Parts: sequence; C-alpha cells; structure tokens
Amino acid sequence: MKQNRREFIETSAVVAAGLALSTGLPQVARAKGLTESRTGRGPIAVASGNGVEAVRRAVEGMTSGEDALDAAIAGVNIVEADPDDITVGYGGLPNELGVVELDSAVMHGPTHRAGAVASIRNIMHPSKVANLVRKTTDHVLLVGQGALDFAKMHGFKEQDLLTDKSREIWLLWKQKMSDADDWLPPPKEEVDPGLWNMVERWTGTIHLSARDTSGDMSCVTTTSGLFFKIPGRVGDSPIIGAGLYCDNDYGTAGSTGRGEANLQNLCSYQAVEFMRQGMGPTEAGLEVLKRVAETTKRADLLDEQGRPNFGLSFYLIDKQGRYGAATMWGPSEYAVADAEGARKEEAAFLFERD
Ligand code: GLY
Repeated sequence: MKQNRREFIETSAVVAAGLALSTGLPQVARAKGLTESRTGRGPIAVASGNGVEAVRRAVEGMTSGEDALDAAIAGVNIVEADPDDITVGYGGLPNELGVVELDSAVMHGPTHRAGAVASIRNIMHPSKVANLVRKTTDHVLLVGQGALDFAKMHGFKEQDLLTDKSREIWLLWKQKMSDADDWLPPPKEEVDPGLWNMVERWTGTIHLSARDTSGDMSCVTTTSGLFFKIPGRVGDSPIIGAGLYCDNDYGTAGSTGRGEANLQNLCSYQAVEFMRQGMGPTEAGLEVLKRVAETTKRADLLDEQGRPNFGLSFYLIDKQGRYGAATMWGPSEYAVADAEGARKEEAAFLFERD
C-alpha cells in the first residue's frame, strides 16, 4: 500500500485527530467482507499474498515430519531468493543510498525462543541468520555490522542483493523525487509503466505462520523493508511482538505493511493475546487493526474520513487449527496451504477501497 509523502504539519494532527474521533472510528466498528476464521486440515501454513509457493513448501515439509519452523523458513527462502519479489531478500528495493538492508525474525512455539536480525546487508537469506541467532546464542536480535559478521562466522557468503531491476527503480525514484535538486527524470513515456508505479513508496514483506498436525506452531517474517528508507531504519518485521509472535498454547501471528504503525501498537503480540482470550484468528486480526486505526493521529496518515491511509495486514493460526487474515484495506488475498493444497483466500478487511 502506498504511503503519503511526508508533508506533515504538526498543527494539523490535532484537526485530524478530531476528524478521526468524529467520523472515522464508528465506521471501523464493523469489519467488511469475510470475518470468520476457517479450519484447516492437517498441517497449515498462512502467509502474505506473495507466499503461495512458500506455504506449499512449508506444508510439504511438515507433512514429511519437518519441524514447523524449519518448514516455514524453507518456505520463505523461496521468496528471499526470488529476484522478481522486490520486497524481500535478493532484488529487494534498497535504502535511499541504493543499499539493500534486510530485516527478519523467527519464533519457535515449542521452545518459545526467538531470533532476529535487522539492517543486515549482503546476505540473501536473513531468516536463516535469524534462526541461527535463536539456536546458537543467548540473544534475540543482532543488527547491522554485528549481524553481518555473525552470518559470515557461520559461513554465509556476502553478495550484492541489488538487481538491475531494483537498481533502475531506485534510480528513477532519485530522479523523480524533487524539483529542487539536479536530478532530471526521464520522460514518462520512455519508462516502463510498471517501473514508474514502483517509485511510489510501497511496503511488501512476507510473513508465514505454520502449525503442524500435533498443534505445534512457529512463524517467520522477512523483508527488505520500506522502499528507499533512511539507512538504518528498522521496521516491525524483526521485532518480536510486532512483526510476529507465537505462543504455542494459543496461536501465531505476523504482519506485512506499514511497520511504524505496527511498532507503535505491538500488534502480533496483541493478536495472540486476543486469541488467548478466546477470539478466533480473523477476529483477533481485525481487532488489532481497529486499535491501529484508533491510535493513528497524524494528519498525513489519515484520509479525509479519518481512516488510516496505509496498508497493514495480519496472518494468523490458533491452537485449534483455525486460520485467517485481516487487512486494513480490502479486498485483498493471502496465501494458505493445508491438506487441500496451496491457494489464495480472501482476507477480512476494515475498509473497502473505492
Ligand atoms: N512491515 C515491513 C516494514 O515496515 O519494514
């Protein structure tokens, strides 16, 4: 989902907050579209819409006895290696200096242990490094150069993650960004329209939550983060409780979308907590989105009706094998696999796009 350019004026936030209170929130009270959770057969995996092959791989792994976390990581590794996915791993869009910086985290339900890396450069599979942080250290999160050194200690080879496609999009973004610098954009008709649209600041990411037949659950999130971010910016993906969370007794959840909104509400933890209190996965996802809508006050992040103007989505499974997804703006699809195979299903949503 596109994010607005930052033209934030402090004083207008007060006006916007009033607007949200007077008009926005009552409309949030009832989610649109599908709101029920479904129940899967056998091992289950859910992921963002870019994860159909990932959930397929995760369920195949669990079916042949793989631990849910190992299966989940093997699933997202497919997307990390895919140069056509410009939001994750190899070919992910870079920071404002043209350098790809990746964030990832894993959480293993049976041991309640987590590992994460943030702002790691030159490593295609940050989810594998995050898992090694979990398995081989007493820490949970390594960042930047320390995360890269740690990966190299474990034999990971550095490689340039910028593809020609992601470099071209980044360069176009620099050229188009401002009239007050010396960069000149090419004529629009000379640019592939797909590339031109990518210059808007979207977020991508993949989250995958998995549950095996015995009810053990785990999850992983991996991303190249916000397009053209300030170097060192870390989103929600590697933050336990924000970009993902798993409590093996109750449920697993994780996110894609505007990380800053999630970081300020710790939504994955809260969604699992809602499942612990008895909500189904879809209902829990919608409930945390309502919380985000209620706590978004900045004028530049709200539309004229006081609704958040950004995307944020959650993918969830509970102990009973119910699953669902909820998104701020729909309609939208997410990836699911179970004994019936891999497919896309419709997510529940708070607001409907025009
Ligand atoms: N949710 C991904 C990010 O904000 O970086």
